[in-house]
Amino acid sequence: MQDILKIIRSRHSTRGAFDLTRPITKETQTLILEGAQWAPTPTNMQNFEIIVVDAREQLDAIGKVPADMSEQFLRETYALLSHSTAELCEKKTGMLITFFPSTWTNPEAWDPDSDYRSQLTFLGRAIGETPLLMLVVYDATKRAPGSVGDPVGLISLGCVLENMWLVCESLQLGLHVLTVVSDGPVEQSLKELLHVPACMKIAFACSIGYAAHPSASYTRVRRDLGAFVHYNNFTRTEPHAPAKDQS
Ligand SMILES: Cc1cc2nc3c(=O)[nH]c(=O)nc-3n(C[C@H](O)[C@H](O)[C@H](O)COP(=O)(O)O)c2cc1C
Repeated sequence: MQDILKIIRSRHSTRGAFDLTRPITKETQTLILEGAQWAPTPTNMQNFEIIVVDAREQLDAIGKVPADMSEQFLRETYALLSHSTAELCEKKTGMLITFFPSTWTNPEAWDPDSDYRSQLTFLGRAIGETPLLMLVVYDATKRAPGSVGDPVGLISLGCVLENMWLVCESLQLGLHVLTVVSDGPVEQSLKELLHVPACMKIAFACSIGYAAHPSASYTRVRRDLGAFVHYNNFTRTEPHAPAKDQS
């Protein structure tokens, strides 16, 4: 019990560069893919495909895709950012603004007609520093039974992600999720490059590798259990002490 909670708690986003001299072997890739394989899905529909990119030339080609995010993507990301650690600790949700390149957080660059747009080159940098990318795609013309807009089917993709992430954590491999690959213009370019059929949608990409540098610790926040657990009806919350070690 403690072991799984330990892995869940220590799993984190690795946002620094990965060590390009340490490729991820096919055997290790298979372990990560088996994590995805055994993810739960509604009616066991297994509504996902995974594109594994480990060839340097293909990674470099992806890195050249313009990071031409929509204004909405940039605006909504910005809304979740804190400007200081103190603000983040107070909010207990969101992320520090310093994790993002300054061009992303420059409202001048959000306007599609702005001259600053050309500076949104983050995709190239992220891909240039990874030995392995796994893109999770799904057929947007299908859905989980009865799920209007397919929220139930999309939950599966989260299960796939978490399983892959926990396997990586247990192998001391870093993982960084990139959702920018699912944003309109970026997704379109990637679909062409990777020959993804028109009916399919890219959900996210996982950049995976061994961290190039020992990771600097950073502030990770979560709401307390008492802030989101409701007992027997929505109006009843209770403060929670952390669980005792049951190992
Ligand atoms: C569905 C999903 C999409 C995410 N997309 C991104 C992303 O595009 N870029 C990024 O840096 N992190 C992304 N993340 C990572 C979250 O920002 C991260 O999990 C959150 O800030 C908590 O930090 P932690 O992973 O270190 O616990 C994503 C996570 C999930 C679950």
